[in-house]
Amino acid sequence: KTIAGTFCHAPELGSIEILRDALVEIDGRGTIVAVTPAGDPGHAAKRARAAESGALVEAPAESYILPGFVDLHIHAPQYPQLGKALDVPLEVWLQQHTFPLEARYADLAFARRHYEALVEDLIANGTTTALYFATQHVEASKLLVDICLEQGQRALVGKVAMDNPAECPDYYRDASAEEGITGTKALIDYVAAHPENHGLVHPVITPRFVPSCTDPLLEGLGELARQCGCHVQTHCSESDWAHGYVLDRFGRTDAETLDRFGLMTRRTVLAHSNFLTDGDMELIHARGAGVAHCPLSNAYFANAVFPLRAALAKGVRVGLGTDISGGPTASMIEAQRMAIAASRMLETGVDPTLPQAERGRPGSRIDFDVAFHLATAGGGDVLDLPIGLFRPGFHFDAILVDPHAPGGTMRVWDDIDSDADALQKIVYTASKGNLAAVWIGGREVAGTL
Ligand code: GUN
Ligand code: FE
Repeated sequence: KTIAGTFCHAPELGSIEILRDALVEIDGRGTIVAVTPAGDPGHAAKRARAAESGALVEAPAESYILPGFVDLHIHAPQYPQLGKALDVPLEVWLQQHTFPLEARYADLAFARRHYEALVEDLIANGTTTALYFATQHVEASKLLVDICLEQGQRALVGKVAMDNPAECPDYYRDASAEEGITGTKALIDYVAAHPENHGLVHPVITPRFVPSCTDPLLEGLGELARQCGCHVQTHCSESDWAHGYVLDRFGRTDAETLDRFGLMTRRTVLAHSNFLTDGDMELIHARGAGVAHCPLSNAYFANAVFPLRAALAKGVRVGLGTDISGGPTASMIEAQRMAIAASRMLETGVDPTLPQAERGRPGSRIDFDVAFHLATAGGGDVLDLPIGLFRPGFHFDAILVDPHAPGGTMRVWDDIDSDADALQKIVYTASKGNLAAVWIGGREVAGTL
């Protein structure tokens, strides 16, 4: 197949590349084999050949093709609770709202109903890859794998490991460290042996966060990470409470603790990470782990803003997450907007009674180009997967943005706006209604083109 259209992507942090009227050729497995810009000598001939053989797919004039979004942190079972219970502290929210909801996924009919709705909505919002926390249940976690494969979404799925009776309720935890480890292995084996899975879905070792795990569970999962080389995900230094809990229990930061248990690998994704010390950032950089920045959830639960610019300056790889349902939106476009707004608030400071020079953290701001990079190529880089860019060897995971869609929320003016303006407007004003098609691995999974 050859897709003809105007492609926008962000290969580097802080710059965007727009390929007007380019051709992107993909092979039978949905991998990009060639990107031909309009000015290329072979362009016209390639286009004619593709059209003749019926392999040409033309994006409508005035539309833009972007890499699909990578949601680097999302709790699949919390979707039914989106937009609820946002006014209580994290530790209360977990015990009173979230654990009771997640426990219901023991019922596979309940799980199927809500997981199907979630994956469909995420795809409609342009999320082509998601790094999921499922629940403590192995069977329901397998079901989430099945549903991602059924709907064709690229996904990384973790059975949540949580066995600490002091922090997890009896009705919702692994009965022992052993159970948490065997359950994790069972999901890894299930994904590896799945006949329908040709590299679309990956398993993830998922200690929920240090407070919910005993030492033997953390040790066992670290050992498993070493053996299998799988991705690892967890929450790191999210809120005052979570950060302080780990300092009290181990006398070390979250990042140091995870590292001592062997859970800080090149394929580790640390959600939130708001309270990282300089030393933590250096450690994360040295291990090659990455951070899932969840700006909206941080506003509700973390009592903090992630110091994004400081982390990037230390060489830490960062992507963006919705953290459903800590963040009340499935839209990675909204996550980008919130990342920008949060960076401005960090820069400006929140206390107007202080003299201006003492208010904020200078140099914290980002703009749409950085947010867009984090939501696409940045997330792909953290996951070590060839996604988020239009480059040979990368999966063709993409969205078609129609700026003029009647159901959308943006306006682009042909007498005023350049292509770069349009991309800026997409980040600041577009919504699900502007997405006319979604491709994952070269397959059109939503829309009609
Ligand atoms: N820390 C432990 N579990 C959770 C969760 O489900 N959401 C968030 N935001 N933080 C957590
Ligand atoms: Fe989370």
